[in-house]
Amino acid sequence: SARECTKYTHTIMSGQRLFCNERVVRTVHSAESEKNKFIPFDELISHRRQQAARSVLIQVQSEKSCSELYSYCSQFGHIEGMHHYTVHHNTHFVLIEFKKVSHVENILNKATHMNEEQIIPVEGSMFWFRTEKTRSKISVSKDVPLLIKNGCSIPTDKELTDLLLSAETMSDQMVTLYETTKLNDIGVRIRFQTAHQLERCFSGLFPHISVLPFGSSVNGFGKLGCDLDLVLRATNVNEENLNSRLVYHTKTIMSDERLQTKKFMETIADTMQHFVPGICNVRRILHARVPIIKYEQSFTGVECDLSITNLTAVYMSELLRLYSEVDWRVKPLVFTLRKWAECVGLTNSAPGRWITNFSLTLLVLFYLQFKQILPSLSTLKKLAVKRDTRVANSMVDCTFLRDLNRLPERTTNVTTLQELLHGFYEFYSQFDFHTKAVSIRDGTTISKPDYSALYICNPLEPMLNVSKNVSIEEVEKLKVNLREASWLLESTDNNNLLTILQPKKDLMTLVRGKRVVNVAVLFGEDSEDEKTNVANKQKTLSGSLNKDRARRR
Ligand code: GTP
Ligand code: MG
Repeated sequence: SARECTKYTHTIMSGQRLFCNERVVRTVHSAESEKNKFIPFDELISHRRQQAARSVLIQVQSEKSCSELYSYCSQFGHIEGMHHYTVHHNTHFVLIEFKKVSHVENILNKATHMNEEQIIPVEGSMFWFRTEKTRSKISVSKDVPLLIKNGCSIPTDKELTDLLLSAETMSDQMVTLYETTKLNDIGVRIRFQTAHQLERCFSGLFPHISVLPFGSSVNGFGKLGCDLDLVLRATNVNEENLNSRLVYHTKTIMSDERLQTKKFMETIADTMQHFVPGICNVRRILHARVPIIKYEQSFTGVECDLSITNLTAVYMSELLRLYSEVDWRVKPLVFTLRKWAECVGLTNSAPGRWITNFSLTLLVLFYLQFKQILPSLSTLKKLAVKRDTRVANSMVDCTFLRDLNRLPERTTNVTTLQELLHGFYEFYSQFDFHTKAVSIRDGTTISKPDYSALYICNPLEPMLNVSKNVSIEEVEKLKVNLREASWLLESTDNNNLLTILQPKKDLMTLVRGKRVVNVAVLFGEDSEDEKTNVANKQKTLSGSLNKDRARRR
């Protein structure tokens, strides 16, 4: 049976983004046809990596250069498509996808360096298209396969607000928010191109190197402009040659694995900083539990976090993507809740003692398991077959069903997005964060194994808490904001998502300024005495909030 709902298309025309809020009927396909569309994660990643290997990035004067660039580059091979975008509004780039990798090699053989002595003559698949010295004989083609113009522009707050206001229902608004802010095709392409640059750069020393995107760039929850999480893997096994009599001379790794990782990452970071074009602002965070190199790729405008060998995180992204594809409501609901959390100040792009987007997403998935819209991870594990077996970092079992086409049944739950949003706030407003932990693996709550303020079991490593960083004050703030949002949605005639997406002052401070500060200070301490007092303080705080709410009603 088909369901009607609205979809707001945004069209790219004449270099401008035109948002057409015309309502079109979207047929939400039956479970059967939706199932058939699912592309397994490995296939998707492999397709995107090959696409990146067949593509080059070229800086141009403006999008007007596209026809000339097309004509010039056609001599190197067949061009499948050209994608234009700008970085910081005024630097123009075109990503050209060729039909074959050999076409890119043709370009590399013909491209040149600037004829200056001060440069380090590094090669790669990122270029700039200089103006011709003499009039070229190449005729300028009118038939340029320019698929996207200005493809990475993020809608302004005003554009987004107007779009949301023109949607009829709150559920429509949630779909609109998702459709207009989600990471698009060019956003994914430039992220894989950013990863490909590192592979190409280090492939001389490590021919089997792979740099794999994970996190929101590939887990279905990425938005335009999101950061790029990368994992670099320098594998050493070439399965086909195991019986060869010629064995490479190599160096042995240090006995201290952590020190080896640090040295390796330091070298990688130095090379990136000093030799790789476009890479800037390299920061080494090598003493963290998961050491990372943070950097910016200025040609793609992407902020990157590079780690090494952390395959669990890649499988985690695969699991999240799987969940995001089980039901069409998952992504709009997660996008709305991430946006809400950002607006009310629960999340922050800087790391700290607050909840992260990742933890918040797990809370949403858990709620959808409670609503029987999503299966538990145990169910996905039971459905796994031999080819789904994966073990990360030699010990973490990451085996689960990987092909949704084999998920036997989908939900019969037809709750609307608006109802789910409200339901989420109600569910967690009443959740016993004090004694209960959330387990995506079991699809149920379990008793909290330790005193962490918020306990969300890592689905793949259940003994770990992904929200260990969250402080008691932040959990209190979360609860206050959950109740506030629930109350706002309950209030009559309120059918507008924007009411809960308003940035506002910290409610706790608003409600009982001085007293709450005292509570917050106490909560910030970690001693056992204070922990035993937490329940009483929570009661006091809820009491104040309820009184305040009653007064406003
Ligand atoms: P945004 O970057 O905020 O858009 O979302 P993200 O999902 O990419 O989050 P983030 O960049 O913080 O983390 C990237 C990925 O690392 C996540 O998607 C998870 O797979 C993984 N990750 C993040 N935090 C944790 C954690 O605390 N524990 C574990 N095991 N994995 C984590
Ligand atoms: Mg990320």
